[in-house]
Amino acid sequence: MNSLLLSLALAVTPAPQAVDMAAGEYRLAPVPSLSIAGAEQADSLRLARYASQHGFSVPRGKSKTNIRLVASENSAPAEGYKMTVGKKFIEISAADGAGLFYGLQALMDLRDEHADGRIPCMTVTDYPRMPYRGMMLDVSRHYRSKDFILKQIRAMERLNLNRLHLHLTDAAGWRIESERYPRLNTVAAFRPDSTWKEWNANGNQYGGTHGGFLSKEELREIVDYAADRYITVVPEVEMPSHSEEVLAAYPLLSCNKTGRGNSNFCASSEATFEFLRGVLDEVMEIFPSEQIHIGGDEAPKGQWLGCPDCSALMDSLGYESPDYLQSRLIRRMEDYLASHGRRAIVWDDALEGDGPTDNATVMSWRGTEPSSVALPVIMSPGRFCYLDSYQDAPSTQPEAIGGYTPLEFVYRYEPDTAAVGLQGNLWCEYIPSDSHAEYMLYPRMLAIAENAWTEPQRKNYDDFRQRALKESVRMRSEGFTVFDLTTEKGNRPEALAPVEHLARGCEVTYLQPYWQNYPASGLQTLVDGICGGWNYSDRLWQGFAQSTPERVDVIIDLGVEKAVSSIGATFMQICQPDVWMPEHVEIYAGNDPENLVMLREIDRVRTPDTAVSFETFGWEGNVTARYVRYRATAPSGGVLFTDEIVVK
Ligand code: ACM
Ligand code: ZN
Repeated sequence: MNSLLLSLALAVTPAPQAVDMAAGEYRLAPVPSLSIAGAEQADSLRLARYASQHGFSVPRGKSKTNIRLVASENSAPAEGYKMTVGKKFIEISAADGAGLFYGLQALMDLRDEHADGRIPCMTVTDYPRMPYRGMMLDVSRHYRSKDFILKQIRAMERLNLNRLHLHLTDAAGWRIESERYPRLNTVAAFRPDSTWKEWNANGNQYGGTHGGFLSKEELREIVDYAADRYITVVPEVEMPSHSEEVLAAYPLLSCNKTGRGNSNFCASSEATFEFLRGVLDEVMEIFPSEQIHIGGDEAPKGQWLGCPDCSALMDSLGYESPDYLQSRLIRRMEDYLASHGRRAIVWDDALEGDGPTDNATVMSWRGTEPSSVALPVIMSPGRFCYLDSYQDAPSTQPEAIGGYTPLEFVYRYEPDTAAVGLQGNLWCEYIPSDSHAEYMLYPRMLAIAENAWTEPQRKNYDDFRQRALKESVRMRSEGFTVFDLTTEKGNRPEALAPVEHLARGCEVTYLQPYWQNYPASGLQTLVDGICGGWNYSDRLWQGFAQSTPERVDVIIDLGVEKAVSSIGATFMQICQPDVWMPEHVEIYAGNDPENLVMLREIDRVRTPDTAVSFETFGWEGNVTARYVRYRATAPSGGVLFTDEIVVK
């Protein structure tokens, strides 16, 4: 059997590294007995409890059963396992409790797959590709209950994920009980508006009846529940920015001391450091995780330049840029964590300035590759791992923050081999409800889990998709909301095949430059025959944001005079990131590039709406021309994206 058929027969997700099939089968009893040997007592108790809650009977004492979990040193790499299914026994051996747990998960997958109880004989040799396999939940933008989080842990345990990163603090709400700083709970945890969108539209007020925080008792229950499933909860406390909610509660921690208009802690004030140490003390009391995430992303560091105290500190320390104020803060907090035996994780933005210390782990969301950093790197690049983006044609989906990241795209992401981890992130600005959050997570989280666990040569999308379909059914039966892969529409039809037209491969002169941030393939983008997909992030759309007003203005040389009957370009509109349809378009043609004739002028009224939309602005008629000029002007402050100027 080839590996594809093998893992289909196995139906184990994430796919194991190696499977050797053998003749015969094991007959699984309806409630099979299972014993655990050699494991540390805590692991034995944990595994016994878990197995008995999941359809196995675990006899007390030393009774010998046909299904055995056996811990023994060197029997598998860390977290790995070996499972032998013989005709008379099933043995799962591992060097640690986690390995036994993942072996048990594989056995449970086999049990689901072979509902008649006939498990084919085989040997599975399995281990994780990466030590850190994570899922991030943003519980700040919309409060999530303990029960919701426990439910997601149950999804994670089936996928061999071992880190739950909780984004617990952000402008939209502080979600950790604090005895030391009660206003974090009375003020920063609540807001007048139920959804993030309303809150953001209504001026980001604090206090009110919406939101909440997780009590220390609830958080400890989450930590213990996760630990029983070999999952470590990594808490994140944002600093120095994304902290408006804290500054609303404790305005003296901001540079302007008003609690409004600043998102950063004042980087020079010792009160900031005292506060952050106090918060981390409470966090470390709740969360035993060695790794604690201290944010570091997206700080508008210019805020500090307007603060007399921060500026004076920069001068006295000889800092040329406020980047160094951020690294000073991050480094001090890292040292504080280190003095308590903990280690910081920081977003890759924190590499600016002096960067973090050698103790830190970097979480890369902007795509920073491990090879460019001397520190361990967990990959969670926005392009592949941000699960708040659309997973199908935007017109068929609930409003999302943008992007287009379908399951296959997530699955085909190949992290650099030097990465120590991989994580899927669910930011929740546009995700008010629990069921919507699950809909965005699943099945894409399955792809992240397989990418983090399974060696690339063992991966196969078609096989994975079959397993994801089955897993979706199982998850739904357990009450999860899961995106329906069977109705997936896929990418924008125009993006599926190149378009033939008269201007293909012709020379393009840019009278206004394209936007360097979104060059697509550069000077040939608009005539390469390749149309873009549902979002500009696919690097097939060229951005225009550099002129004032922002505009496209190009002349295409067709080489010789040709009969032309249509000229058109498609634009996309996504209002939230200020991507707009042009408000004015002019299309010209002729034989003298200095004296082209205007064929059509189009004015369009700006129509803000929440839908992602596409519209072609074109001319049709009959001319002969060597040159075509296309001009399009954006509404002020907007960005234009177009993918091709099609001339026929
Ligand atoms: C991030 O997305 N700001 C980490
Ligand atoms: Zn300051």
